[in-house]
Amino acid sequence: MTYSEAATATTAVTEPRDAIIRLAGVEKVYRTDKIETLALTSINLDVRRGEFISVMGPSGCGKSTLLNLMGLLDSPTQGSLHVCGRAIRAYGDRDLARMRNEQIGFIFQVFHLINDLSILDNVEIPLLYRSGAGRGRRQAAREALARVGLASRMHHYPSQLSGGQQQRAAIARAIVGRPRILLADEPTGNLDSQMGSEIMEILEAFHADGTTIVMVTHEARLAERTERIVRLFDGRQVS
Ligand SMILES: Nc1ncnc2c1ncn2[C@@H]1O[C@H](COP(=O)(O)OP(=O)(O)O)[C@@H](O)[C@H]1O
Ligand SMILES: [Mg+2]
Repeated sequence: MTYSEAATATTAVTEPRDAIIRLAGVEKVYRTDKIETLALTSINLDVRRGEFISVMGPSGCGKSTLLNLMGLLDSPTQGSLHVCGRAIRAYGDRDLARMRNEQIGFIFQVFHLINDLSILDNVEIPLLYRSGAGRGRRQAAREALARVGLASRMHHYPSQLSGGQQQRAAIARAIVGRPRILLADEPTGNLDSQMGSEIMEILEAFHADGTTIVMVTHEARLAERTERIVRLFDGRQVS
Protein backbone atom coordinates (compact mmCIF):
# COMPACT_ATOMS: atom_id res chain seq x y z
CA MET A 1 0.00 0.00 0.00
CA THR A 2 1.30 3.48 -0.80
CA TYR A 3 1.32 6.17 1.83
CA SER A 4 -1.63 7.90 0.23
CA GLU A 5 -3.68 4.69 0.04
CA ALA A 6 -2.94 4.03 3.69
CA ALA A 7 -4.05 7.54 4.64
CA THR A 8 -7.26 7.17 2.66
CA ALA A 9 -7.98 3.75 4.15
CA THR A 10 -7.56 5.13 7.67
CA THR A 11 -9.84 8.01 6.80
CA ALA A 12 -12.70 5.72 5.92
CA VAL A 13 -12.64 4.22 9.40
CA THR A 14 -12.00 7.26 11.55
CA GLU A 15 -13.85 10.06 9.79
CA PRO A 16 -17.28 10.81 11.27
CA ARG A 17 -19.68 11.48 8.44
CA ASP A 18 -20.63 14.93 9.57
CA ALA A 19 -17.18 16.40 10.30
CA ILE A 20 -16.32 18.43 7.23
CA ILE A 21 -13.09 19.59 8.89
CA ARG A 22 -11.30 17.52 11.52
CA LEU A 23 -8.09 18.40 13.30
CA ALA A 24 -6.60 15.80 15.63
CA GLY A 25 -3.51 16.51 17.72
CA VAL A 26 -2.54 19.32 15.39
CA GLU A 27 0.62 21.27 16.00
CA LYS A 28 2.06 24.03 13.85
CA VAL A 29 5.62 25.21 14.30
CA TYR A 30 7.05 27.97 12.09
CA ARG A 31 10.75 27.42 11.62
CA THR A 32 13.08 30.08 10.32
CA ASP A 33 16.90 30.14 10.36
CA LYS A 34 17.12 31.33 13.93
CA ILE A 35 13.81 30.88 15.67
CA GLU A 36 11.01 28.40 16.10
CA THR A 37 7.53 29.63 16.89
CA LEU A 38 4.98 27.21 18.26
CA ALA A 39 1.85 28.75 16.73
CA LEU A 40 -0.59 25.92 17.56
CA THR A 41 -0.40 22.88 19.80
CA SER A 42 -2.69 19.96 20.70
CA ILE A 43 -5.62 21.17 18.64
CA ASN A 44 -8.50 18.69 18.49
CA LEU A 45 -11.41 20.22 16.67
CA ASP A 46 -14.27 18.98 14.52
CA VAL A 47 -16.24 21.39 12.41
CA ARG A 48 -19.52 19.78 11.48
CA ARG A 49 -21.03 20.02 8.04
CA GLY A 50 -23.16 23.15 7.87
CA GLU A 51 -21.90 24.55 11.16
CA PHE A 52 -21.11 28.26 11.71
CA ILE A 53 -18.34 28.69 14.28
CA SER A 54 -16.26 31.64 15.37
CA VAL A 55 -12.67 31.66 16.60
CA MET A 56 -11.59 34.21 19.18
CA GLY A 57 -8.43 35.00 21.12
CA PRO A 58 -5.75 37.67 21.54
CA SER A 59 -3.48 38.78 18.73
CA GLY A 60 -0.78 36.21 17.98
CA CYS A 61 -2.61 33.26 19.57
CA GLY A 62 -2.78 31.29 16.30
CA LYS A 63 -6.18 32.17 14.81
CA SER A 64 -4.94 32.87 11.28
CA THR A 65 -2.66 29.85 11.43
CA LEU A 66 -5.68 27.68 12.29
CA LEU A 67 -7.69 29.13 9.41
CA ASN A 68 -4.79 28.69 6.98
CA LEU A 69 -4.54 25.02 7.92
CA MET A 70 -8.29 24.53 7.45
CA GLY A 71 -8.03 26.31 4.10
CA LEU A 72 -5.15 24.09 2.90
CA LEU A 73 -2.85 27.08 2.58
CA ASP A 74 -0.41 25.43 4.96
CA SER A 75 0.03 22.03 6.58
CA PRO A 76 0.43 20.93 10.22
CA THR A 77 3.87 19.95 11.53
CA GLN A 78 2.22 17.27 13.71
CA GLY A 79 -1.18 15.62 13.88
CA SER A 80 -3.78 14.98 11.24
CA LEU A 81 -6.08 17.19 9.25
CA HIS A 82 -9.09 15.94 7.32
CA VAL A 83 -11.10 18.14 5.01
CA CYS A 84 -14.22 16.86 3.25
CA GLY A 85 -13.51 13.36 4.51
CA ARG A 86 -9.97 12.99 3.23
CA ALA A 87 -6.64 13.17 5.00
CA ILE A 88 -4.71 16.14 3.71
CA ARG A 89 -1.54 14.09 3.53
CA ALA A 90 -3.27 11.98 0.91
CA TYR A 91 -3.48 14.92 -1.47
CA GLY A 92 -0.91 15.86 -4.05
CA ASP A 93 -0.25 19.52 -4.86
CA ARG A 94 -2.61 19.56 -7.80
CA ASP A 95 -5.40 17.98 -5.74
CA LEU A 96 -4.82 20.54 -3.00
CA ALA A 97 -5.05 23.45 -5.41
CA ARG A 98 -8.20 22.05 -6.91
CA MET A 99 -9.75 21.44 -3.51
CA ARG A 100 -8.96 25.02 -2.45
CA ASN A 101 -10.47 26.36 -5.63
CA GLU A 102 -13.64 24.26 -5.60
CA GLN A 103 -14.51 23.56 -1.98
CA ILE A 104 -13.14 26.49 0.00
CA GLY A 105 -13.79 30.24 -0.11
CA PHE A 106 -11.53 32.68 1.78
CA ILE A 107 -12.39 36.14 3.07
CA PHE A 108 -9.75 38.36 4.68
CA GLN A 109 -9.67 41.57 6.70
CA VAL A 110 -8.08 43.33 3.72
CA PHE A 111 -10.16 42.82 0.63
CA HIS A 112 -7.42 41.93 -1.89
CA LEU A 113 -9.45 43.20 -4.84
CA ILE A 114 -7.53 44.05 -8.00
CA ASN A 115 -7.85 47.80 -8.46
CA ASP A 116 -7.74 48.00 -12.23
CA LEU A 117 -10.40 45.35 -12.76
CA SER A 118 -14.13 45.99 -12.45
CA ILE A 119 -15.99 44.35 -9.56
CA LEU A 120 -17.51 41.88 -12.03
CA ASP A 121 -14.07 40.91 -13.39
CA ASN A 122 -12.72 40.56 -9.85
CA VAL A 123 -15.51 38.18 -8.89
CA GLU A 124 -14.99 36.07 -12.00
CA ILE A 125 -11.31 35.39 -11.23
CA PRO A 126 -11.66 32.10 -9.29
CA LEU A 127 -13.66 30.62 -12.16
CA LEU A 128 -10.87 31.30 -14.67
CA TYR A 129 -9.01 28.34 -13.17
CA ARG A 130 -11.86 26.01 -14.02
CA SER A 131 -13.03 24.61 -17.29
CA GLY A 132 -16.31 26.02 -18.57
CA ALA A 133 -17.62 28.61 -20.95
CA GLY A 134 -16.97 32.33 -20.51
CA ARG A 135 -20.66 33.12 -20.62
CA GLY A 136 -21.41 30.75 -17.74
CA ARG A 137 -18.65 32.35 -15.70
CA ARG A 138 -20.03 35.82 -16.34
CA GLN A 139 -23.48 34.72 -15.27
CA ALA A 140 -22.16 33.07 -12.10
CA ALA A 141 -20.28 36.27 -11.20
CA ARG A 142 -23.43 38.37 -11.72
CA GLU A 143 -25.44 36.03 -9.51
CA ALA A 144 -22.79 36.12 -6.78
CA LEU A 145 -22.84 39.93 -6.84
CA ALA A 146 -26.64 39.94 -6.66
CA ARG A 147 -26.45 37.71 -3.57
CA VAL A 148 -24.32 40.25 -1.73
CA GLY A 149 -26.47 43.19 -2.86
CA LEU A 150 -24.03 44.62 -5.39
CA ALA A 151 -25.87 43.98 -8.66
CA SER A 152 -26.02 47.70 -9.36
CA ARG A 153 -22.28 48.17 -8.79
CA MET A 154 -20.78 45.42 -10.93
CA HIS A 155 -19.15 47.77 -13.44
CA HIS A 156 -17.60 49.94 -10.75
CA TYR A 157 -13.96 49.68 -9.78
CA PRO A 158 -12.92 48.85 -6.20
CA SER A 159 -11.84 52.45 -5.45
CA GLN A 160 -15.36 53.63 -6.28
CA LEU A 161 -16.91 51.52 -3.52
CA SER A 162 -17.13 51.95 0.25
CA GLY A 163 -15.20 49.58 2.51
CA GLY A 164 -18.35 47.58 3.24
CA GLN A 165 -19.12 47.28 -0.46
CA GLN A 166 -15.56 46.18 -1.21
CA GLN A 167 -15.86 43.48 1.43
CA ARG A 168 -19.16 42.37 -0.08
CA ALA A 169 -17.41 42.12 -3.47
CA ALA A 170 -14.68 40.04 -1.85
CA ILE A 171 -17.36 37.76 -0.40
CA ALA A 172 -18.94 37.41 -3.85
CA ARG A 173 -15.54 36.37 -5.19
CA ALA A 174 -15.18 33.84 -2.34
CA ILE A 175 -18.56 32.21 -3.01
CA VAL A 176 -18.77 32.47 -6.81
CA GLY A 177 -17.62 28.85 -7.17
CA ARG A 178 -20.20 27.66 -4.60
CA PRO A 179 -17.70 26.35 -2.03
CA ARG A 180 -18.93 24.13 0.78
CA ILE A 181 -16.62 25.82 3.27
CA LEU A 182 -16.21 29.56 3.85
CA LEU A 183 -13.25 30.71 5.96
CA ALA A 184 -13.32 34.33 7.10
CA ASP A 185 -10.32 35.90 8.87
CA GLU A 186 -11.55 39.02 10.71
CA PRO A 187 -13.88 39.93 7.83
CA THR A 188 -15.27 42.93 9.71
CA GLY A 189 -11.94 44.09 11.16
CA ASN A 190 -11.69 47.13 8.86
CA LEU A 191 -15.37 48.09 8.95
CA ASP A 192 -17.55 50.19 11.20
CA SER A 193 -20.21 48.37 13.20
CA GLN A 194 -23.04 49.08 10.75
CA MET A 195 -21.05 47.67 7.83
CA GLY A 196 -19.87 44.82 10.05
CA SER A 197 -23.47 43.86 10.78
CA GLU A 198 -24.28 43.86 7.07
CA ILE A 199 -21.38 41.50 6.40
CA MET A 200 -22.55 39.25 9.26
CA GLU A 201 -26.06 39.10 7.76
CA ILE A 202 -24.62 38.01 4.43
CA LEU A 203 -22.58 35.26 6.12
CA GLU A 204 -25.70 34.15 8.01
CA ALA A 205 -27.60 33.86 4.73
CA PHE A 206 -24.90 31.56 3.29
CA HIS A 207 -24.97 29.53 6.48
CA ALA A 208 -28.76 29.17 6.13
CA ASP A 209 -28.12 27.74 2.65
CA GLY A 210 -25.91 25.02 4.13
CA THR A 211 -22.42 26.50 3.80
CA THR A 212 -20.02 25.62 6.62
CA ILE A 213 -18.43 28.80 7.99
CA VAL A 214 -15.46 29.41 10.27
CA MET A 215 -14.98 33.08 11.18
CA VAL A 216 -12.17 34.65 13.17
CA THR A 217 -13.36 37.76 14.99
CA HIS A 218 -12.51 40.10 17.85
CA GLU A 219 -16.11 41.21 18.18
CA ALA A 220 -18.01 39.33 20.88
CA ARG A 221 -21.37 40.59 19.62
CA LEU A 222 -20.70 38.92 16.25
CA ALA A 223 -19.23 35.75 17.74
CA GLU A 224 -22.32 35.34 19.90
CA ARG A 225 -24.42 35.08 16.77
CA THR A 226 -22.54 31.94 15.65
CA GLU A 227 -23.35 28.42 16.84
CA ARG A 228 -20.12 27.86 18.74
CA ILE A 229 -17.12 29.89 19.86
CA VAL A 230 -13.67 28.30 19.82
CA ARG A 231 -11.21 30.22 22.01
CA LEU A 232 -7.45 30.09 21.54
CA PHE A 233 -4.78 31.30 23.91
CA ASP A 234 -1.08 31.03 23.14
CA GLY A 235 -1.66 28.36 20.49
CA ARG A 236 -3.91 26.23 22.67
CA GLN A 237 -7.62 25.70 22.50
CA VAL A 238 -9.06 26.84 25.84
CA SER A 239 -12.74 26.25 25.08
N1 LIG B 1 4.82 32.70 8.42
C1 LIG B 1 5.18 32.77 9.70
N2 LIG B 1 6.47 32.59 10.06
C2 LIG B 1 6.86 32.65 11.35
N3 LIG B 1 6.02 32.89 12.39
C3 LIG B 1 4.72 33.08 12.10
C4 LIG B 1 4.22 33.04 10.74
N4 LIG B 1 2.88 33.28 10.76
C5 LIG B 1 2.56 33.45 12.06
N5 LIG B 1 3.64 33.33 12.86
C6 LIG B 1 3.66 33.41 14.34
O1 LIG B 1 2.75 32.44 14.83
C7 LIG B 1 1.99 32.97 15.91
C8 LIG B 1 0.50 32.93 15.56
O2 LIG B 1 0.24 33.83 14.50
P1 LIG B 1 -1.20 34.04 13.88
O3 LIG B 1 -1.79 32.71 13.57
O4 LIG B 1 -1.06 35.00 12.77
O5 LIG B 1 -2.00 34.71 15.11
P2 LIG B 1 -3.37 35.51 15.13
O6 LIG B 1 -4.04 35.37 13.82
O7 LIG B 1 -4.14 34.91 16.27
O8 LIG B 1 -3.03 36.93 15.44
C9 LIG B 1 2.51 34.37 16.17
O9 LIG B 1 3.47 34.29 17.18
C10 LIG B 1 3.15 34.75 14.85
O10 LIG B 1 4.18 35.67 15.04
MG1 LIG C 1 -4.67 36.79 12.44
